[in-house]
Amino acid sequence: MKNKKFYVTTPIYYVNDKPHIGHAYTTILADVLARYHQMAQEEVFFLTGLDEHGQKVQQAAQKREMSYQAHCDDLAPRFIQLWEKLGIRYDDFIRTTQERHIKTVQHILQKVYEAGDIYQDEYEGWYSVAEERFITETEKDSGQFRDVKILKERNWFFKMSEYQDKLVDYIYEHPEFIQPEHRRNEILGFLKQPLGDLCISRPKSRMDWGIELPFDKEYVTYVWFDALINYITAPGYLDDPKKFKKWWPADVHLIGKDILTTHCVYWSTMLLSLKLPLPKTIFAHGWWLVGETKMSKSLGNVINPLDLIDQYGVEPVRYYLMREMVLGQDAQFTLESFIKRFNSDLANDFGNLLNRVSGLVGKYFDGCIPDQSHLMQADLDIRKQAMALEEKVRDYVNHFHINEAIEEILELVRATNKYVEHQAPWKVAKESLNSAGRILYTAMEALRISAVLLSPVMPQKTHIVLDVLGAVGSTPKWGELKINTKLKTHEALFPRLEVKSNEKGT
Ligand code: MSP
Repeated sequence: MKNKKFYVTTPIYYVNDKPHIGHAYTTILADVLARYHQMAQEEVFFLTGLDEHGQKVQQAAQKREMSYQAHCDDLAPRFIQLWEKLGIRYDDFIRTTQERHIKTVQHILQKVYEAGDIYQDEYEGWYSVAEERFITETEKDSGQFRDVKILKERNWFFKMSEYQDKLVDYIYEHPEFIQPEHRRNEILGFLKQPLGDLCISRPKSRMDWGIELPFDKEYVTYVWFDALINYITAPGYLDDPKKFKKWWPADVHLIGKDILTTHCVYWSTMLLSLKLPLPKTIFAHGWWLVGETKMSKSLGNVINPLDLIDQYGVEPVRYYLMREMVLGQDAQFTLESFIKRFNSDLANDFGNLLNRVSGLVGKYFDGCIPDQSHLMQADLDIRKQAMALEEKVRDYVNHFHINEAIEEILELVRATNKYVEHQAPWKVAKESLNSAGRILYTAMEALRISAVLLSPVMPQKTHIVLDVLGAVGSTPKWGELKINTKLKTHEALFPRLEVKSNEKGT
C-alpha cells in the first residue's frame, strides 16, 4: 500500500532583517508537524524559504547601501543557520530570486494573461505604503493601515472578482479548508463584500525589485502574486509533473493571522484561475505577544531566539513554544513562564522520571532492565494509559492541537512518577526483587513511550533518553524494551533553572 503523503509549508520570510521569534515559531511548528507525520509512516515534504522581492526588501537593501541581490545573499544564510541550530529538517528551501521560481512565475503570468484573467487599467485609490498594496475604502477607514495615500497609476490587474462566488462555495463545502473556525468566519465575512480585482504589477519607475511581467517589460510583479507561487514552484509545477502530482495540493499552509487574506483569497483565486486544486488546509496561528503588543521588529521588542537558545538550549525553547501556544490564539511570551515551564515539565516531570528509574535500576538490578512478569492492577493502569497514548497524540496532532498532545504525554509522565512514588520499589525490593522489577519495567516502558512520542518536539533530548534505555528506533507500542539491556549512564537531562525570589512558590 502506498503511504499517505503530507506536504507542509511555512510562509516564506521577507529578508529585510534577521529572523525573529515569529519566524522561528512557524518553522518549528512545521518541523514538529512534519516529524509527527513521519512517525505515522507518512511521506513528508516540508517546504520553507525566503521572500526576496518587493518594496520591503528593496528598502532594507537601500538602507544598507547594498545591491538588492547582495543584500538577500547576505541575509539568507542567517535564516539557514538558525534553522540548522533549531534542528529544522526541511526538504526544500526556496528563494524567490531563484531561476526555477522566476520561470514559474512568468509562466503562470503568461498563462493567466492568455486565459483572459489579466487586464490593464488605470486605477486611482488608497494605497498603503507599509502594506505595499491598494486598500479598499473600508480597510482605510479601519485605521489599521499605516502610510496611506491616494495613488493613480496604470497597472495590470488579476480578475479576482470572477472567482468570488466559486471561492465562497468552496469554503462552505470544505469546513477543514480554513482553520481555525473563527478565521474561516472572518474570511467568509470579508467575502460578503464584493471582491475587487487584484493589482498585480508595479511600474518599474516606482519599484523595480521584482519579477518582470512577461507581457509588459515596463512592470514587475506585485510581491504577493510572486511569493504565493513558491508553494507550487518547489514541488515542480513547471518542470517535474510527476513530482508535482505527488505533492500538490499541499496538506497545510501554516501562516500567521496577519497574512490570512493573501492566502485564503489571493492565493485561492489564483489557483482557481489556474484550474489547480486548493490546499487542503490553511491554518492561521496567533501571535506571540509581549504584554499587549505583538513581538515585532518595528516595535523593537523582538526576543531573538538565538539568545534564548544560547542560554537555555534549543530543545527547551522548542518545547516551550509548542506547549505554550494554543494554536489559533495569541500567546504571551515571558521569560518567567519559560522558566516555570522548564522547571515543572522538563526538570521535575520528564527529566526526573529518567533519573529515578535509572537510579533504582542501577541500585537494585545492576543497571540492567528487569523482567516484568505478572503485572498487577496499578501496573496495568499505567500500561493502559501508555498504550492509548499514540492514538490520542496522533488525533490531537491531526487537529493541530499540539499543546494538548504534549499535555497528554506529560500526563503519562506525571502519572508514572506518582506510580513509582506509591509503589515504592525501593521498599518492595526488600521483600521481592521480582515485584520491584515489575514496577521499574512498567515505569521504564511508560518513559520510553513518552520519549518516542515527544521526539518530534525534542528530537535530541528524547534521543538521549532512548539511548539510555537501549531503545533508539523503537515505536510507541508497549513492550519493546529489551529485558537485561544494560542502561547507559547519563547526566541530568534538564538541570533545574534558578528561579528569581519573587517567583518562588508559584
Ligand atoms: N513574506 C510574507 C509571507 C509570504 S508567504 C507566501 C511575510 N513575511 S514575514 O517575514 O513578514 O512574516 C512571516 C510570518 O511571521 C507571518 O506568518 C507572521 O504572522 C509571522 N510573525 C511575525 N511576527 C509574529 C509574532 N510575534 N508571533 C507569531 N508569528 C509572527 O509576511
